[in-house]
Amino acid sequence: WSSMKLPSRPELFDFEGVSMVHYFTDNWEKVKNFQARPDDILIATYPKAGTTWVSYILDLLYFVMMLQMPFLESCFKVIASGTELADNLTTSPRLIKTHLPVQLVPKSFWEQNSRIVYVARNGKDNAVSYFHFDRMNMGEPEPGDWNTFLQKFIEGKKVFGPWYDHVSGWWEKKQTYSNLLYMFYEDLVEDTGREVERLCSFLGLSTSVEEREKITKGVQFDAMKQNKMTNYSTIPVMDFKISPFMRKGKVGDWKNHFTVAQNEQFDEVYKQKMKNTTVKFRTEI
Ligand code: A3P
Repeated sequence: WSSMKLPSRPELFDFEGVSMVHYFTDNWEKVKNFQARPDDILIATYPKAGTTWVSYILDLLYFVMMLQMPFLESCFKVIASGTELADNLTTSPRLIKTHLPVQLVPKSFWEQNSRIVYVARNGKDNAVSYFHFDRMNMGEPEPGDWNTFLQKFIEGKKVFGPWYDHVSGWWEKKQTYSNLLYMFYEDLVEDTGREVERLCSFLGLSTSVEEREKITKGVQFDAMKQNKMTNYSTIPVMDFKISPFMRKGKVGDWKNHFTVAQNEQFDEVYKQKMKNTTVKFRTEI
């Protein structure tokens, strides 16, 4: 095991105006031409915003077990690509996850009027979580130290592009596309049960109160951290000695990372980059 060579970290490059690594562009023709179905549910997020959490909730609402959920744009070679996995899914609905910014989503999702659940997380905690993820995940570009990482995050030089454009682009989409539920990580932490209920009403599910309570309990951080299917402990490119996938699960952990100067810089840039959007985030609850 110790002599097993981990793949070298991939380089970041510009792809249609968005920073990417090849794992998410190698299969692009198939991604672009992907055939969505009207009953598909797409879970869209910026990386580290709570993808796994909401995916697991949806999975429990529909199937009561964790299936291998296709990650649409992924092409890791050692496993089937996201489009291949999705094409072969026979479930209804199909649950599919993506980190694509809204402008890169395959057009058939819009044509089929598929349901989409977007999850957003405040930029400060999102950056911290992404930093620790990049440290332990050899499938990501080298993060450098915290300040180096933060500067790249602020510049939008991260896989899947700028956080700012991602969260605001999807927010704008919501104004014209009604089959989109826009959720916040902070709301999920504050009251998971309430958010599960919101999900059910968006999806038109008449899940019983007891069932919802059971699911709410099963998706709490500690339960998911113990669960082999949700803690990613079986993924070889991740080094859990550096940082676990289920790391902290808190709102406000940024306070343990940002210096006063970094916080002022972040707030300043934030004002500028988010001046044309009405989306509002909470950095504490
Ligand atoms: P932290 O690194 O801040 O702990 P994604 O699934 O999009 O990669 O997001 C991962 C982040 O969501 C991690 O954040 C992880 O701990 C958090 N997360 C996952 N499940 C959670 C849960 N049940 N409750 C709270 N946070 C959760």
